[in-house]
Amino acid sequence: MTLINDLFQPELAVVPQEALVSASKKTASTEKNMAYIRSPINYTGNKYRLLGQLRKFLPQKTGVFVDLFCGGATVGFNVNAKKVILIDNNKYVIELLKYLAKTNFSEIISSIENIIYEYNLSYSAKHSYSYYKKQGFVNGNNGLKEYNKEGFYRLREDFNRLKYKFTKKGMCMLYSLMVYGFNNDLRFNNKGEYNLPIGKTDFNKNNIRKLYAFSKRAREINYEFICGDFRDKTRDIIMNADFVYADPPYLITTAVYNENGGWNQDLEIDLLRLLEDLEKKKKRFTLSNVLFKDGAVNQHLRGWIKKNKNITAHRLNYHYRSSSYNKKNRGAGEAEVVVVNG
Ligand SMILES: C[S@@+](CC[C@H](N)C(=O)[O-])C[C@H]1O[C@@H](n2cnc3c(N)ncnc32)[C@H](O)[C@@H]1O
Repeated sequence: MTLINDLFQPELAVVPQEALVSASKKTASTEKNMAYIRSPINYTGNKYRLLGQLRKFLPQKTGVFVDLFCGGATVGFNVNAKKVILIDNNKYVIELLKYLAKTNFSEIISSIENIIYEYNLSYSAKHSYSYYKKQGFVNGNNGLKEYNKEGFYRLREDFNRLKYKFTKKGMCMLYSLMVYGFNNDLRFNNKGEYNLPIGKTDFNKNNIRKLYAFSKRAREINYEFICGDFRDKTRDIIMNADFVYADPPYLITTAVYNENGGWNQDLEIDLLRLLEDLEKKKKRFTLSNVLFKDGAVNQHLRGWIKKNKNITAHRLNYHYRSSSYNKKNRGAGEAEVVVVNG
Protein backbone atom coordinates (compact mmCIF):
# COMPACT_ATOMS: atom_id res chain seq x y z
CA MET A 1 0.00 0.00 0.00
CA THR A 2 1.14 3.52 -0.75
CA LEU A 3 2.14 5.83 2.04
CA ILE A 4 1.24 9.40 1.40
CA ASN A 5 3.34 12.08 2.95
CA ASP A 6 1.33 15.12 1.96
CA LEU A 7 -1.59 14.01 4.07
CA PHE A 8 -0.69 15.55 7.34
CA GLN A 9 -1.41 19.06 8.31
CA PRO A 10 1.15 20.01 10.95
CA GLU A 11 -1.28 19.34 13.78
CA LEU A 12 -1.79 15.80 12.56
CA ALA A 13 1.83 14.89 12.92
CA VAL A 14 1.10 12.84 16.02
CA VAL A 15 -0.81 10.25 14.00
CA PRO A 16 1.77 7.69 12.96
CA GLN A 17 2.29 8.06 9.22
CA GLU A 18 2.16 4.31 8.73
CA ALA A 19 -1.36 4.44 10.12
CA LEU A 20 -2.61 6.65 7.32
CA VAL A 21 -2.29 5.20 3.85
CA SER A 22 -4.19 6.08 0.70
CA ALA A 23 -6.55 3.98 -1.35
CA SER A 24 -4.61 3.47 -4.58
CA LYS A 25 -5.66 5.47 -7.65
CA LYS A 26 -5.71 2.29 -9.65
CA THR A 27 -8.40 0.84 -7.44
CA ALA A 28 -10.46 4.00 -7.60
CA SER A 29 -10.39 4.25 -11.38
CA THR A 30 -10.92 0.54 -11.99
CA GLU A 31 -13.85 0.40 -9.63
CA LYS A 32 -15.59 3.65 -10.40
CA ASN A 33 -17.50 2.33 -13.36
CA MET A 34 -18.86 -0.73 -11.63
CA ALA A 35 -22.61 -0.87 -11.49
CA TYR A 36 -23.76 -0.22 -7.95
CA ILE A 37 -27.30 0.08 -6.72
CA ARG A 38 -28.28 3.65 -5.98
CA SER A 39 -30.50 4.25 -3.01
CA PRO A 40 -33.94 5.61 -3.91
CA ILE A 41 -33.41 7.97 -1.00
CA ASN A 42 -31.19 10.90 -1.80
CA TYR A 43 -29.33 10.68 1.50
CA THR A 44 -26.94 13.36 2.72
CA GLY A 45 -23.51 11.77 3.21
CA ASN A 46 -24.42 8.67 1.23
CA LYS A 47 -21.47 6.61 0.09
CA TYR A 48 -22.52 5.95 -3.51
CA ARG A 49 -19.68 7.92 -5.10
CA LEU A 50 -17.15 6.34 -2.78
CA LEU A 51 -18.24 2.73 -3.22
CA GLY A 52 -15.52 2.01 -5.76
CA GLN A 53 -12.87 2.97 -3.23
CA LEU A 54 -14.68 1.56 -0.22
CA ARG A 55 -14.99 -1.83 -1.82
CA LYS A 56 -11.35 -2.51 -1.15
CA PHE A 57 -12.03 -2.20 2.59
CA LEU A 58 -15.12 -4.38 2.63
CA PRO A 59 -15.24 -8.19 2.44
CA GLN A 60 -15.69 -9.73 -1.01
CA LYS A 61 -18.02 -12.23 0.58
CA THR A 62 -19.13 -12.65 4.16
CA GLY A 63 -21.70 -14.15 6.52
CA VAL A 64 -23.58 -11.51 8.50
CA PHE A 65 -22.71 -7.98 7.42
CA VAL A 66 -23.89 -5.08 9.58
CA ASP A 67 -24.34 -1.70 7.88
CA LEU A 68 -24.30 0.40 11.03
CA PHE A 69 -25.67 3.95 10.56
CA CYS A 70 -27.05 2.70 7.24
CA GLY A 71 -28.75 5.97 6.11
CA GLY A 72 -29.98 5.30 2.57
CA ALA A 73 -28.68 1.68 2.66
CA THR A 74 -26.18 2.36 -0.11
CA VAL A 75 -23.41 0.24 1.37
CA GLY A 76 -25.49 -2.63 2.74
CA PHE A 77 -27.37 -3.06 -0.53
CA ASN A 78 -24.11 -3.34 -2.47
CA VAL A 79 -22.24 -6.00 -0.51
CA ASN A 80 -22.09 -9.73 -0.99
CA ALA A 81 -23.22 -11.31 2.28
CA LYS A 82 -25.39 -14.17 3.45
CA LYS A 83 -27.33 -11.63 5.46
CA VAL A 84 -27.20 -7.85 5.65
CA ILE A 85 -28.47 -6.11 8.78
CA LEU A 86 -29.04 -2.39 8.30
CA ILE A 87 -29.23 -0.29 11.45
CA ASP A 88 -30.12 3.37 11.88
CA ASN A 89 -31.86 5.29 14.65
CA ASN A 90 -33.95 7.39 12.24
CA LYS A 91 -37.37 5.75 12.23
CA TYR A 92 -38.54 7.67 9.15
CA VAL A 93 -35.56 6.49 7.13
CA ILE A 94 -35.85 2.87 8.26
CA GLU A 95 -39.61 2.72 7.68
CA LEU A 96 -39.30 4.39 4.29
CA LEU A 97 -36.58 1.94 3.20
CA LYS A 98 -38.67 -0.98 4.45
CA TYR A 99 -41.64 0.25 2.47
CA LEU A 100 -39.59 0.70 -0.72
CA ALA A 101 -37.85 -2.66 -0.33
CA LYS A 102 -40.80 -4.81 0.68
CA THR A 103 -43.66 -3.39 -1.40
CA ASN A 104 -44.19 -4.67 -4.90
CA PHE A 105 -42.62 -2.27 -7.42
CA SER A 106 -45.79 -1.75 -9.49
CA GLU A 107 -47.80 -1.12 -6.32
CA ILE A 108 -45.32 1.62 -5.33
CA ILE A 109 -45.60 3.24 -8.76
CA SER A 110 -49.38 3.23 -8.77
CA SER A 111 -49.50 4.64 -5.22
CA ILE A 112 -47.16 7.46 -6.28
CA GLU A 113 -49.34 8.09 -9.36
CA ASN A 114 -52.40 8.35 -7.12
CA ILE A 115 -50.63 11.02 -5.10
CA ILE A 116 -49.53 12.83 -8.26
CA TYR A 117 -53.14 12.98 -9.49
CA GLU A 118 -54.67 13.80 -6.11
CA TYR A 119 -52.28 16.71 -5.54
CA ASN A 120 -52.00 17.90 -9.17
CA LEU A 121 -48.24 17.40 -9.26
CA SER A 122 -46.10 17.29 -12.38
CA TYR A 123 -45.04 13.84 -13.65
CA SER A 124 -42.10 14.20 -16.01
CA ALA A 125 -41.33 10.46 -15.99
CA LYS A 126 -44.59 10.08 -17.92
CA HIS A 127 -45.06 13.35 -19.81
CA SER A 128 -41.37 14.40 -20.11
CA TYR A 129 -39.80 17.56 -18.78
CA SER A 130 -40.01 19.22 -22.20
CA TYR A 131 -43.81 18.83 -22.14
CA TYR A 132 -43.95 21.06 -19.04
CA LYS A 133 -41.40 23.39 -20.62
CA LYS A 134 -43.41 23.76 -23.82
CA GLN A 135 -46.52 24.50 -21.78
CA GLY A 136 -44.58 27.30 -20.08
CA PHE A 137 -44.65 25.60 -16.66
CA VAL A 138 -40.88 25.51 -16.21
CA ASN A 139 -39.53 28.64 -14.66
CA GLY A 140 -35.79 29.15 -15.39
CA ASN A 141 -33.69 28.17 -12.40
CA ASN A 142 -36.74 27.27 -10.37
CA GLY A 143 -37.73 24.33 -12.54
CA LEU A 144 -41.15 22.98 -11.62
CA LYS A 145 -41.37 24.81 -8.30
CA GLU A 146 -44.30 27.08 -9.16
CA TYR A 147 -46.20 24.31 -10.89
CA ASN A 148 -46.02 22.00 -7.87
CA LYS A 149 -46.19 24.54 -5.07
CA GLU A 150 -49.87 24.30 -4.15
CA GLY A 151 -50.02 20.51 -4.33
CA PHE A 152 -46.74 19.99 -2.49
CA TYR A 153 -47.76 22.10 0.51
CA ARG A 154 -51.17 20.41 0.63
CA LEU A 155 -49.41 17.02 0.59
CA ARG A 156 -47.01 18.15 3.31
CA GLU A 157 -49.89 19.30 5.49
CA ASP A 158 -51.80 16.07 4.98
CA PHE A 159 -48.72 13.99 5.77
CA ASN A 160 -47.96 15.95 8.93
CA ARG A 161 -51.58 15.57 10.06
CA LEU A 162 -51.59 11.79 9.60
CA LYS A 163 -52.21 10.02 12.87
CA TYR A 164 -50.38 6.89 11.72
CA LYS A 165 -47.46 7.88 9.52
CA PHE A 166 -45.66 4.54 9.46
CA THR A 167 -48.12 2.93 7.09
CA LYS A 168 -47.80 2.24 3.36
CA LYS A 169 -49.87 5.36 2.68
CA GLY A 170 -47.73 7.50 5.00
CA MET A 171 -44.45 6.22 3.58
CA CYS A 172 -45.58 6.75 0.00
CA MET A 173 -46.53 10.33 0.93
CA LEU A 174 -43.12 10.80 2.54
CA TYR A 175 -41.32 9.42 -0.52
CA SER A 176 -43.30 11.84 -2.71
CA LEU A 177 -42.48 14.76 -0.42
CA MET A 178 -38.81 13.87 -0.78
CA VAL A 179 -39.04 13.70 -4.57
CA TYR A 180 -40.81 17.08 -4.87
CA GLY A 181 -39.15 18.71 -1.85
CA PHE A 182 -36.11 20.93 -1.46
CA ASN A 183 -32.87 19.18 -2.50
CA ASN A 184 -34.81 15.90 -2.44
CA ASP A 185 -33.91 15.68 1.23
CA LEU A 186 -35.65 14.34 4.31
CA ARG A 187 -35.87 16.64 7.29
CA PHE A 188 -38.16 16.85 10.30
CA ASN A 189 -38.71 19.37 13.08
CA ASN A 190 -38.80 18.51 16.79
CA LYS A 191 -42.49 17.62 16.55
CA GLY A 192 -41.64 15.01 13.92
CA GLU A 193 -43.16 17.07 11.09
CA TYR A 194 -41.56 17.01 7.66
CA ASN A 195 -40.49 20.62 7.25
CA LEU A 196 -38.66 21.13 3.97
CA PRO A 197 -40.01 23.61 1.42
CA ILE A 198 -40.88 22.86 -2.19
CA GLY A 199 -38.02 21.87 -4.52
CA LYS A 200 -37.49 22.19 -8.26
CA THR A 201 -37.79 18.60 -9.38
CA ASP A 202 -40.49 15.95 -9.69
CA PHE A 203 -41.03 12.23 -10.16
CA ASN A 204 -38.78 11.57 -13.14
CA LYS A 205 -37.26 8.58 -14.94
CA ASN A 206 -34.21 8.63 -12.74
CA ASN A 207 -36.38 8.12 -9.64
CA ILE A 208 -38.09 5.20 -11.32
CA ARG A 209 -34.76 3.60 -12.24
CA LYS A 210 -33.53 3.89 -8.67
CA LEU A 211 -36.77 2.50 -7.25
CA TYR A 212 -36.69 -0.43 -9.65
CA ALA A 213 -33.04 -1.34 -9.01
CA PHE A 214 -33.56 -1.14 -5.24
CA SER A 215 -36.71 -3.22 -5.36
CA LYS A 216 -35.01 -5.84 -7.55
CA ARG A 217 -31.98 -6.01 -5.25
CA ALA A 218 -34.25 -6.38 -2.23
CA ARG A 219 -35.71 -9.51 -3.81
CA GLU A 220 -32.23 -10.96 -4.39
CA ILE A 221 -30.65 -10.48 -0.97
CA ASN A 222 -31.36 -11.48 2.61
CA TYR A 223 -31.68 -8.27 4.56
CA GLU A 224 -33.17 -6.85 7.73
CA PHE A 225 -33.73 -3.22 8.63
CA ILE A 226 -33.53 -2.35 12.31
CA CYS A 227 -34.36 1.00 13.82
CA GLY A 228 -32.22 1.51 16.90
CA ASP A 229 -29.34 3.18 18.63
CA PHE A 230 -25.99 1.38 18.39
CA ARG A 231 -25.61 1.60 22.18
CA ASP A 232 -28.86 -0.16 23.04
CA LYS A 233 -30.69 -3.17 21.74
CA THR A 234 -28.62 -3.50 18.57
CA ARG A 235 -25.30 -3.93 20.39
CA ASP A 236 -25.51 -7.72 20.59
CA ILE A 237 -26.39 -7.95 16.91
CA ILE A 238 -23.38 -5.81 16.05
CA MET A 239 -21.05 -7.83 18.27
CA ASN A 240 -22.17 -11.09 16.68
CA ALA A 241 -21.79 -9.96 13.06
CA ASP A 242 -19.02 -11.29 10.82
CA PHE A 243 -18.23 -7.83 9.50
CA VAL A 244 -19.30 -4.35 10.58
CA TYR A 245 -19.24 -1.28 8.38
CA ALA A 246 -19.87 1.88 10.43
CA ASP A 247 -20.62 5.26 8.86
CA PRO A 248 -21.60 7.52 11.77
CA PRO A 249 -22.32 11.25 11.57
CA TYR A 250 -18.96 12.98 11.48
CA LEU A 251 -18.02 14.88 14.60
CA ILE A 252 -16.35 17.76 12.74
CA THR A 253 -18.75 18.20 9.82
CA THR A 254 -22.39 19.26 9.72
CA ALA A 255 -25.40 17.40 8.35
CA VAL A 256 -29.09 17.09 9.23
CA TYR A 257 -28.40 14.07 11.43
CA ASN A 258 -25.80 15.70 13.65
CA GLU A 259 -27.71 18.92 14.27
CA ASN A 260 -29.13 19.62 17.74
CA GLY A 261 -26.85 17.21 19.57
CA GLY A 262 -27.61 14.37 17.17
CA TRP A 263 -23.95 13.40 17.40
CA ASN A 264 -21.41 14.46 20.00
CA GLN A 265 -18.13 13.51 21.67
CA ASP A 266 -19.76 11.04 24.07
CA LEU A 267 -21.37 9.15 21.19
CA GLU A 268 -18.09 9.21 19.29
CA ILE A 269 -16.25 7.73 22.29
CA ASP A 270 -18.96 5.07 22.77
CA LEU A 271 -18.63 4.09 19.14
CA LEU A 272 -14.86 3.83 19.32
CA ARG A 273 -15.28 1.61 22.42
CA LEU A 274 -17.67 -0.61 20.51
CA LEU A 275 -15.14 -0.92 17.70
CA GLU A 276 -12.45 -1.73 20.23
CA ASP A 277 -14.66 -4.51 21.61
CA LEU A 278 -15.04 -5.87 18.08
CA GLU A 279 -11.28 -5.79 17.71
CA LYS A 280 -10.90 -7.71 21.00
CA LYS A 281 -13.26 -10.36 19.62
CA LYS A 282 -11.14 -10.44 16.43
CA LYS A 283 -14.11 -9.22 14.39
CA ARG A 284 -13.33 -7.12 11.34
CA PHE A 285 -14.74 -3.63 10.85
CA THR A 286 -14.42 -0.63 8.58
CA LEU A 287 -15.24 2.83 9.88
CA SER A 288 -15.81 5.85 7.63
CA ASN A 289 -14.99 9.27 9.02
CA VAL A 290 -13.44 12.68 8.48
CA LEU A 291 -10.16 13.10 10.33
CA PHE A 292 -9.65 16.79 9.67
CA LYS A 293 -11.50 19.52 7.86
CA ASP A 294 -10.73 23.21 7.43
CA GLY A 295 -8.44 23.30 10.45
CA ALA A 296 -10.74 21.23 12.71
CA VAL A 297 -9.37 17.87 13.80
CA ASN A 298 -11.25 14.89 15.17
CA GLN A 299 -8.98 14.51 18.19
CA HIS A 300 -10.74 11.45 19.57
CA LEU A 301 -10.32 9.53 16.38
CA ARG A 302 -6.78 10.72 15.91
CA GLY A 303 -5.78 9.64 19.44
CA TRP A 304 -7.59 6.35 19.04
CA ILE A 305 -5.80 5.48 15.80
CA LYS A 306 -2.51 6.39 17.39
CA LYS A 307 -3.22 4.26 20.47
CA ASN A 308 -4.38 1.12 18.66
CA LYS A 309 -1.54 -0.54 16.83
CA ASN A 310 -3.82 -2.91 14.95
CA ILE A 311 -5.85 -0.09 13.43
CA THR A 312 -5.02 1.73 10.19
CA ALA A 313 -6.54 4.80 8.52
CA HIS A 314 -6.67 5.08 4.74
CA ARG A 315 -7.43 8.33 3.01
CA LEU A 316 -10.06 8.31 0.29
CA ASN A 317 -9.63 10.18 -2.94
CA TYR A 318 -11.88 13.18 -3.56
CA HIS A 319 -11.37 13.11 -7.26
CA TYR A 320 -14.02 10.45 -7.57
CA ARG A 321 -16.67 12.18 -5.54
CA SER A 322 -19.87 13.78 -6.80
CA SER A 323 -19.40 17.11 -8.51
CA SER A 324 -21.74 18.69 -5.96
CA TYR A 325 -19.04 17.92 -3.39
CA ASN A 326 -16.33 19.23 -5.63
CA LYS A 327 -16.28 22.80 -4.50
CA LYS A 328 -13.15 24.62 -5.57
CA ASN A 329 -10.10 23.23 -3.77
CA ARG A 330 -12.25 20.96 -1.67
CA GLY A 331 -10.23 18.08 -0.41
CA ALA A 332 -7.08 20.02 0.21
CA GLY A 333 -8.05 20.84 3.80
CA GLU A 334 -10.09 17.75 4.44
CA ALA A 335 -9.31 14.10 4.99
CA GLU A 336 -12.14 11.61 4.53
CA VAL A 337 -10.81 8.30 5.72
CA VAL A 338 -11.69 4.70 6.29
CA VAL A 339 -10.31 3.12 9.43
CA VAL A 340 -9.86 -0.64 9.49
CA ASN A 341 -8.55 -3.28 11.85
CA GLY A 342 -6.54 -6.41 11.18
C1 LIG B 1 -23.29 9.52 7.53
S1 LIG B 1 -24.98 8.99 7.70
C2 LIG B 1 -24.93 7.40 6.97
C3 LIG B 1 -24.96 7.43 5.45
C4 LIG B 1 -25.06 6.06 4.84
N1 LIG B 1 -23.85 5.27 5.03
C5 LIG B 1 -25.39 6.12 3.34
O1 LIG B 1 -24.57 5.69 2.51
O2 LIG B 1 -26.48 6.62 3.02
C6 LIG B 1 -25.11 8.67 9.42
C7 LIG B 1 -26.40 8.01 9.90
O3 LIG B 1 -26.27 7.72 11.30
C8 LIG B 1 -27.58 7.74 11.88
N2 LIG B 1 -27.41 7.85 13.35
C9 LIG B 1 -27.09 8.96 14.06
N3 LIG B 1 -26.96 8.67 15.37
C10 LIG B 1 -27.20 7.34 15.50
C11 LIG B 1 -27.21 6.45 16.62
N4 LIG B 1 -26.96 6.88 17.86
N5 LIG B 1 -27.49 5.12 16.41
C12 LIG B 1 -27.77 4.69 15.14
N6 LIG B 1 -27.79 5.50 14.05
C13 LIG B 1 -27.49 6.81 14.21
C14 LIG B 1 -28.24 8.91 11.20
O4 LIG B 1 -29.65 8.78 11.25
C15 LIG B 1 -27.67 8.81 9.77
O5 LIG B 1 -28.57 8.14 8.94
